Amino acid sequence: MQQGDVIERLREALGAEVIVLPEQFGTRQVVDWSGLPGATPRAIIRPRNTGEVAIALRICNAFRQPIVTQGGLTGLVGGANLRDGEVALSLDRMNRIVEIDCTSGTMTVEAGVPLQVVQEAALEAGLYFPLDLGARGSCMIGGNMATNAGGNRVIKYGMMREQVLGLEAVLASGEVVGALHKMIKNNSGYDLRNLLIGSEGTLGVITRAVLRLRPRPTAVATAWCALPSYEAVTMLLEAAQAGLTAGVSAFEVMWAGYYDAVLFNLPGLRAPLAERYPFYVLLESVGTDPARHAQGFEEFLARMLEAGVVGDAALAASEADALAFWAIRDAPGEYPKFIPNHAAYDVSFSIRDVGEAAKRCDMRLRDKWPDALVMIYGHLGDGNLHIVVDVPGARKTLHGEIDDVVYEVTREFHGSVSAEHGIGTKKKAYLGFTNSDANIAAMRAVKAALDPNGILNPGKIF
Ligand code: FAD
Ligand code: LAC
Ligand code: ZN
Repeated sequence: MQQGDVIERLREALGAEVIVLPEQFGTRQVVDWSGLPGATPRAIIRPRNTGEVAIALRICNAFRQPIVTQGGLTGLVGGANLRDGEVALSLDRMNRIVEIDCTSGTMTVEAGVPLQVVQEAALEAGLYFPLDLGARGSCMIGGNMATNAGGNRVIKYGMMREQVLGLEAVLASGEVVGALHKMIKNNSGYDLRNLLIGSEGTLGVITRAVLRLRPRPTAVATAWCALPSYEAVTMLLEAAQAGLTAGVSAFEVMWAGYYDAVLFNLPGLRAPLAERYPFYVLLESVGTDPARHAQGFEEFLARMLEAGVVGDAALAASEADALAFWAIRDAPGEYPKFIPNHAAYDVSFSIRDVGEAAKRCDMRLRDKWPDALVMIYGHLGDGNLHIVVDVPGARKTLHGEIDDVVYEVTREFHGSVSAEHGIGTKKKAYLGFTNSDANIAAMRAVKAALDPNGILNPGKIF
């Protein structure tokens, strides 16, 4: 281990502009959205390129200096938060779009580009980047890769993993691995790209990537559907997947408890339908045949209404209508305004089990805390439920007890304690609920091989 002061050594190697000290970064945000505690970094490393990331990691590794990578800090599991004595490495300066290759259908980017900038650049080039989530304006593409983000369009296009063709990362040793390939097919040995995607900053710092772009949809149809039962919800899902020619691009389900609470607390939201139902689905289909797309979608909805699968529906007649429907679904961004102490979950089950699992969670939570607000919603096409619990007057110290209830149900249904947000520090204690000891031992072996001194995001996941 190297002796002396690591911060001084970093400053000598990279300069005061890259190694920023607390007196300079002042009140800059250094914790994510989880609400979990985080310490002030000893310094923030703000590299301008992969070479500077490599120099920084080599020095930190020699000094055994723990280092936490930060993207847009919209993570929900404490993954980007620090413990005392750690340094942060922010990708905020590596925010260039390097190239758009329309023939190969790719965009090469640095890891600090915000998701929304990628989406807009793809549209401008006549193509489409499908990953989408409520934090699009702030989260960075590197953070999306590190968490294997999901979001609203997974049902048609897959998670972040499916949007990445090539990836470059720096290991704890300072070694640069990966490649900026543009191929869909590449079976040459272990897939380091997929190992790094979803590794939550524990195996390497992702610096650049080649993203896969898709044809730009030229037709969008969106409906707000109200349904009488969970069975009707799954019938609608199956029918939409089989019956909509262009497929389903979003199938977002909201239990009535969610819908009622967000409409009551957020006066900017408009109710799409007059009557109240037990379930709502935001159904979207995107396609490339504007002449027939809307008609096919309307005919499908009419069939569902006639069959009684859908009780009532509002069809978006304009982009503004569609945005108003999405505003109801994107309300989680407003939780800090009305339920600042809530506990939030991101669990997944087989689609067949989701209804029962949600019912069991709701029942057990209400047994224990009869006046709790329980909001259930999610990306149902992916089996992914978000459960939000707010016990009036309770402090955050209650979260551990609520966790036990929700994760026990997850275990009973052989689900996953994290569908899309990751483990971070928040779900560490529950990793074993849905992973065998052998799985966890194999994960630890990978970690030890790539980061033998344990400097990258220590204390996360395990
Ligand atoms: P950060 O929060 O900065 O970091 C997240 C983790 O990744 C940390 O462990 C960090 O160390 C690591 N990391 C970040 N950048 C890198 C890098 N370049 N190399 C290595 N490690 C890195 N998530 C979903 O999946 N689906 C949703 O629908 C969704 N909706 C959301 C809605 C709202 C309103 C909010 C606030 C969050 C939502 N999220 C959702 C969670 C969050 O936006 C995603 O996890 C996002 O991918 C995090 O990106 P970030 O840049 O903010 O990462
Ligand atoms: C959502 C986030 C919380 O889907 O994942 O709203
Ligand atoms: Zn989500």
